[in-house]
Amino acid sequence: MALLFISENDDPSVWKAELAKAIPELEVRIWPDSGDAGDIEYALAWNPPLGLLASFPKLRFIQALGMGIDHFLADSDMPENVPLARLVDPDMVRQMTEFVIHAVLRFHRQAALYARHQGARLWHQEAIPDTRKATIGIMGLGMLGADAAANLDAIGFRVRGWSRRPHELANIESFHGRNGFEDFISETQFLVCLLPLNESTADIINKDTLALLPEGAYVINAARGDHVVEGDLLNAINSGHIAGAALDVFRTEPLAPDHPFWAHPNIHVTPHVAALTNPLTAARLVAKNIQRAAAGQPPDNLVDLRRGY
Ligand code: NAP
Ligand code: GLV
Repeated sequence: MALLFISENDDPSVWKAELAKAIPELEVRIWPDSGDAGDIEYALAWNPPLGLLASFPKLRFIQALGMGIDHFLADSDMPENVPLARLVDPDMVRQMTEFVIHAVLRFHRQAALYARHQGARLWHQEAIPDTRKATIGIMGLGMLGADAAANLDAIGFRVRGWSRRPHELANIESFHGRNGFEDFISETQFLVCLLPLNESTADIINKDTLALLPEGAYVINAARGDHVVEGDLLNAINSGHIAGAALDVFRTEPLAPDHPFWAHPNIHVTPHVAALTNPLTAARLVAKNIQRAAAGQPPDNLVDLRRGY
């Protein structure tokens, strides 16, 4: 059996070595050196070229190299009867929760203000904002959103969440669907986007959404760049309605050198590093799914392509 590794973002040699520990008999080929297309039974991929996966007649399982699968949704030639699983690695969940907590606390504890004071050698104590009154609103209460919510609650924030279906999470006030959106967002001071990207969530942070946020709110996007209408966010920050943003993902990556986000004093830019796939923790999960597929069992974390996540 042969697996085709398709990614320009990930190091194939580490993946090959880690997969060999779990499944020594697995032949790993590195795209574009696919060899005979008829040998490929498994694909391990991040952002494969459109149409490529349809060219392997014996393909029986596709494992995404990331938690998001929007790249696959964009492929109109995705082979219909081949299961696609997304990667759900608890270590990535931990990384994302760290990122979100850091982004929230940086704004909440006025890091930018004290950096300016330090530059001016100014010793001046501001009042500490009351954490129990600071409201975080998390869009997406899945693997990432639910963990970030629980950990922000543990710090003492008031945490609310929004999802497609109703959820009951301890101490998290939950809202769902379009009908619950306005109530959810209107009290949110720190809006955290952890939604999957699909037709129903693209452009969700736009001028109308931003107008519903209270004055002085912050936006944290660690999901996908296409969730945000970038010009609308920039206008809302420049008008003073939105106090700032922490953005890890962008409509075009890498972010162009002349993009206004880079130099904006109220925008923190990171290069899509909130949670990175790590073969040292993820390869055994991938190997388990390949073994399940080889045994004719459904993979863990199967994606519903029609639902879009
Ligand atoms: P997940 O477990 O599939 O959870 C998705 C959540 O979004 C669920 O709560 C779901 O609602 C909700 N949702 C989906 N469509 C919705 C809609 N139309 N309206 C309201 N809520 C909706 O996903 P995850 O593992 O948490 O990952 C989320 C995303 O994070 C990924 O898709 C990926 O794009 C991004 N990500 C980014 C990085 C990075 O480094 N920046 C790293 C990893 C992942 P239900 O619970 O009701 O189904
Ligand atoms: C990263 O962005 C992922 O989806 O895993």
